[in-house]
Amino acid sequence: MSEQRKRPSSLEELGFSSTIVKKLRDAGVTTVEALAIANASELSQILGMPITTVQRMINTARNALNLGFKTALELKKERVSLPKITTGSRNLDNLLGGGVEVKNMTEFFGEFGSGKTQICHQLSVNVQLPPEKGGLGKKAVYIDTEGTFRWERIEAMARALGLDPDKVMEDILYVRAVSSDHQMAIVEELHNIIAKENIGLVIVDSVTGHFRAEYPGRENLAARQQKLNKHLHQLASLAELFNVAVVITNQVMARPDVFYGDPTMAVGGHVLYHTPGVRVYLKKSRGSRRIARIVDAPHLPESETVFAITDEGIRDPE
Ligand code: GTP
Ligand code: MG
Repeated sequence: MSEQRKRPSSLEELGFSSTIVKKLRDAGVTTVEALAIANASELSQILGMPITTVQRMINTARNALNLGFKTALELKKERVSLPKITTGSRNLDNLLGGGVEVKNMTEFFGEFGSGKTQICHQLSVNVQLPPEKGGLGKKAVYIDTEGTFRWERIEAMARALGLDPDKVMEDILYVRAVSSDHQMAIVEELHNIIAKENIGLVIVDSVTGHFRAEYPGRENLAARQQKLNKHLHQLASLAELFNVAVVITNQVMARPDVFYGDPTMAVGGHVLYHTPGVRVYLKKSRGSRRIARIVDAPHLPESETVFAITDEGIRDPE
């Protein structure tokens, strides 16, 4: 079936005329990826072109991104060859099947202080490592919704890995999202930034904070969930289309008694239940130790492990 070909980096490379490319740009469709996920009927109205023509253009973009049919074997080869980002802890990497996956969304959830933000900091450093050291040799985008990003921590983590801290900080694109709408707009904007800036990892810490604050209480639950689902879908597409790892965090209350079920179900905070990707539940243990447990992952066994938060960053426990 479809062969792996070079990803086109611009609309021109799809073989469209310059008039068409200009029309698309004017309509806000500036990348091949944006065209691939465009809605044919909406776009045909905006462009004033027949829907069949627009559908053909969209298909061209999808095929160029290898989004057409592929065999199960091709799918297998594609998935097993996907690079992973090391967490800094061999235990945690093993739990994740080698590290945080590109082309997928990974959620770290757990109570306050369970290590979600520390893991995000570490990943935004580690993604910059060369592949032979567990990175992608690429930059990170850090969407901070709670104002808990600390450059000092990045500096310390970079130094601990023998990297130039200034260089590492330069390759983390930081943005503070001030509302859920802003957060979603930032993800839209990333479509135009990822390829240009050589981004390998997109972090949203935390993904749920603004949504919870803006839609409090039971009466707002349905509206909140609907909007959050849209955001999660947006993030999952981002991972899939742009070959990046997406990492999100979600604070939940600790319920040790339900650790072996789905811990978020019991506290009524099951907002990210049944979202795509890998879900990792984090739990505080003795001192700097933290327990991580895979929940609800179709391709990973349900198991748990221990890692530590140290001055150097995320590591295996002593
Ligand atoms: P919330 O965002 O509040 O839900 O928590 P979180 O899960 O994001 O927790 P976070 O990742 O911020 O973990 C905080 C913990 O990391 C602290 O309790 C400290 O134990 C540890 N920590 C943070 N900074 C350092 C540091 O510089 N050195 C060491 N050794 N530990 C640190
Ligand atoms: Mg945090």
